Amino acid sequence: MDVAVFSAKPYDKRFLDAANAADAGRHRLTYFEARLSRATAVLAGGAGAACLFVNDQADEAVLDEFARAGLRLLALRSAGFNNVDLAAARRLGLAVARVPAYSPDAVAEHTVAMILSLNRSIHRAYARVREGNFALDGLLGFDMKGRVVGVVGTGRIGAAVAKIMLGFGCRVLAHDPFPSPDCSAMGVPYVALGELLAASDIVTLHCPLTPQSRHLIDAEAIRRMKRGAMLVNTGRGALVDTRAVVEGLKSGAIGHLGLDVYEEEGDLFFQDLSGQVIQDDVFARLLTFPNVLVTGHQAFFTAEALTAIAETTIGNITAFEETGKALHEVSVEKLA
Ligand code: NAI
Repeated sequence: MDVAVFSAKPYDKRFLDAANAADAGRHRLTYFEARLSRATAVLAGGAGAACLFVNDQADEAVLDEFARAGLRLLALRSAGFNNVDLAAARRLGLAVARVPAYSPDAVAEHTVAMILSLNRSIHRAYARVREGNFALDGLLGFDMKGRVVGVVGTGRIGAAVAKIMLGFGCRVLAHDPFPSPDCSAMGVPYVALGELLAASDIVTLHCPLTPQSRHLIDAEAIRRMKRGAMLVNTGRGALVDTRAVVEGLKSGAIGHLGLDVYEEEGDLFFQDLSGQVIQDDVFARLLTFPNVLVTGHQAFFTAEALTAIAETTIGNITAFEETGKALHEVSVEKLA
């Protein structure tokens, strides 16, 4: 099948080409650096499938253009699918496939890296020591052992985070409308979100972005959190109301903030903007806090995860070509 790959980076090409070669090179992959938008949708003309990443916007207008051009499949290189208008895809007869699990450990381990870095101010210590400043003032951390970690969303990633944090001797609380048997077996209690926020020293978000979970952490939720608690979001940016979080950091309500995802990351992440002036004032404000650590949506970025993403994506496309059904389809019906 002819596949138009959007938001393609050199590493995408490397791993997708390898997965395609392992499938006898049956697909013709054309790589576009451009992010998918109404302006760039036309690039997919002539292809049977478009292959998208997290900041490619497949809204109704884009999907209309795809349907007109004869595309039949959207193959997402991600687990999340909040960037696709699924109702419009169904109306237009476009199948949507994703990579439901590639390496939950990659994301869980990055989450823990952020928690430890923030706690022990590794990001500040690194810069200080390089400047010849060996003072410890401002670097005071806390023992992880005995701390309460609230995991919101205990699917594959949240359950992996819970397991690691239990290994540190933390007490883990969970909130999820569908409790995980793995977490229950580890003795993790499920509580209401309000209770989790009030009791946790560290709150970490691992639920998908849906209309219900948008701004799950808003000003009211921050008021319910333990004063000075750490908030970590490696899920999706809009789970957090960033303006409310900035206020929480200013008042000391939030003691540490770790973000791998950001509400408006589409204009920022996955590109080198070091020679430019950042126009997003909310994001720029975040970067001024000493107790904030931001990474540019890199939690998934391990060799194992990229291999799995590429293999599942090619598997989805091949299955769709052979049977009319991808291996891991997403549909509005399944979500209902
Ligand atoms: P999953 O589907 O295995 O688990 C998600 C869990 O969240 C489910 O148990 C579900 O019941 C729960 N959930 C749904 N709505 C909720 C709510 N309002 N409150 C609490 N729990 C809720 O998904 P997985 O693989 O664990 O991934 C979680 C999210 O992590 C993805 O949706 C994606 O947005 C994000 N992600 C981020 C990556 C990164 O590089 N930063 C990479 C991969 C995923």
